[in-house]
Amino acid sequence: MKGMSLESENLPFNEYVYNDRWRSRTLDVKSYWDLHRRSIESFEEFWASIARELEWFKPWDKVLDASNPPFYKWFVGGELNLSYLALDRHVKTWRKNKLALIWEGEPVDQSGYPVDRRKLTYYDMWREVNRVAYMLRNNFGVRKGDRITIYLPMIPELPIVMYAAWRIGAITSVVFSGFSADALADRINDSQSRLVITADGFWRRGKVVRLKDIVDKALEKAPGVENVVVYRRLGLNDVPMTEGRDWFWEKALAGVPHNAYVEPERLESTHPSYILYTSGTTGKPKGIIHDTGGWAVHVYATMKWVFDVRDDDIYWCTADIGWVTGHSYIVLGPMLMGATQIMYEGAPDFPQPDRWWAIIERYGVSILYTSPTAIRTFMRFGEEWPRKHDLSTLRIIHSVGEPINPEAWRWAYTNLGSQNVAFGSTWWMTETGGIVISHAPGLYLAPMKPGTNGPPLPGFEVDVVDESGKPAPPGVRGYLVIKRPWPGMLHGIWGDPERYIKTYWSRFPGMFYAGDYAIRDQDGYIWVLGRADEVIKVAGHRLGTYELESAFISHPAVAEAAVIGVPDPIKGEVPIAFIVLKQGVAGTDELRKELRQHIRNTVGPIAEPAQIFFVSKLPKTRSGKIMRRLLRAVATNSPLGDTTTLEDETSVEEAKRAYEELKREVSQ
Ligand code: WT7
Repeated sequence: MKGMSLESENLPFNEYVYNDRWRSRTLDVKSYWDLHRRSIESFEEFWASIARELEWFKPWDKVLDASNPPFYKWFVGGELNLSYLALDRHVKTWRKNKLALIWEGEPVDQSGYPVDRRKLTYYDMWREVNRVAYMLRNNFGVRKGDRITIYLPMIPELPIVMYAAWRIGAITSVVFSGFSADALADRINDSQSRLVITADGFWRRGKVVRLKDIVDKALEKAPGVENVVVYRRLGLNDVPMTEGRDWFWEKALAGVPHNAYVEPERLESTHPSYILYTSGTTGKPKGIIHDTGGWAVHVYATMKWVFDVRDDDIYWCTADIGWVTGHSYIVLGPMLMGATQIMYEGAPDFPQPDRWWAIIERYGVSILYTSPTAIRTFMRFGEEWPRKHDLSTLRIIHSVGEPINPEAWRWAYTNLGSQNVAFGSTWWMTETGGIVISHAPGLYLAPMKPGTNGPPLPGFEVDVVDESGKPAPPGVRGYLVIKRPWPGMLHGIWGDPERYIKTYWSRFPGMFYAGDYAIRDQDGYIWVLGRADEVIKVAGHRLGTYELESAFISHPAVAEAAVIGVPDPIKGEVPIAFIVLKQGVAGTDELRKELRQHIRNTVGPIAEPAQIFFVSKLPKTRSGKIMRRLLRAVATNSPLGDTTTLEDETSVEEAKRAYEELKREVSQ
């Protein structure tokens, strides 16, 4: 199997963890399954009952239209607006001047105290969103259905711009601010955005990242962009501005009344709210489309069940809004709930490895949503760092993005949660729009187990199946599938409906194929083990190996490339590259450096390979498929191992020979 963080042989299927704080919410496993069964039996009514808790401009006529699978439609006929739900609804109540956002910039003064801090109430946010919506509509002519590319760091303007877009029915395409110019250009072009919103730069680990320079580079390859709005996060005075195209924020807002009000559009439930690009098994990232009503219902339900958010909570999701976690659980979820949340611009270890713990203490954070990679990084820094701070306000912790190994779970449970929190690993993906498999302390808590994802949430029919689509027995590894549509589900791939059907709905007819390996244990808990396809998770970030291979091949020195993911103690997985150079090109260390830089420039710093091996040829089957298992064995310095399931058309002898050859070359 490809690199993964969990070893299926020694998972603690029988290690039940209870704690006193959550005793009254703890359900025995059987009662939970009764509850789950009922949600599936009255599936549509179950979801409708949750949807009714939101405010709709017009109620739906049909909960689920399944007449043209897999193009499902949720809450058909219903009308709503996300900006209205997250803002207008609250400013009509006592929450009007409740804090929505406490934002910290990265820089600190000599005593370690943050120098840039902003606190925005719901009313502040509502006013800003109205102004920006007015600007988009009146100054830039943005209309319902237009796509806007947003390339912003973690600053309040990012959610503000998103809500402004959704207020008028525009479709957001947020690009992670760590992506390179090429990656940005591809996403702008694919989504046909004519407007880009960015910033001059931001702080990351004590250094300035000049974001606008990257945009300028991208726009050389994205000629369709007509306007660029630049928010001054840093106030740099040497930002190159193209006359007639680029507008500083204040200029862009010219003529917008300080008390602008823009009527929220009555959007159909099925209207797309955003596109988010994610990696798959081809060279080109796919634009995952999400609707408005279904997504809102899914996110709202999971905010209650998984995070149990109350008015006196301080919520902090440490993800970046450039990924789906930030879309659902920073931008939409907490604000639907009227919660107060923390947003932090910079690196977790700046200026010291206790920055996050200082933040938790400073604001009394009670709910923390973070990643296994972050936890493992902090584990390495040592428990003296969290011990310096009062973390006793925490009552719920969840992780997401990759499997959490039992040791990391135990470490965080003890050193962050004082063994007095509910703590789970929420499984979902860009395509699902919201959490699918998770503990749900807001509803019940099944006994915890270190490293599990727990049972599927109510309303989700999840299974682990074998090659033929039949349920795999407990304890046996299989493929994770979802057997019914769900509200937050994707609604296709931007511009490529065929690929949507092929990628997700063809492998097992009638089921959504997630692309993950999983095990179901004797209690029905799911343990997701890692990807079953050529996608890797580097520090929780999703990267396609083919995508990296095409990036390598775009370099003039490279003839062929194969990229695989191998296990890494901190990042879960890291990419390793095997490169065949063009005739006459020497494989020097200099070139290695250049190739690393090339990957940083074309994909982004997160994709930088951990190792690059120059080889004279890649081991292939007779039909030309790269024998990745061989590459993996060589890269991890492990024996070729079990040869019973070798790639087709390759004899064991051939594979062994190729393995030995490759090993010789690589160790030279
Ligand atoms: C892939 C999806 C969901 C938001 C962030 C990732 C892996 C995600 C878990 C978890 C084990 C997980 C899967 C999945 N994954 N959460 N709790 N335990 N694996 O979204 O970038 O679309 O990646 O992340 O492999 O398929 P994404």
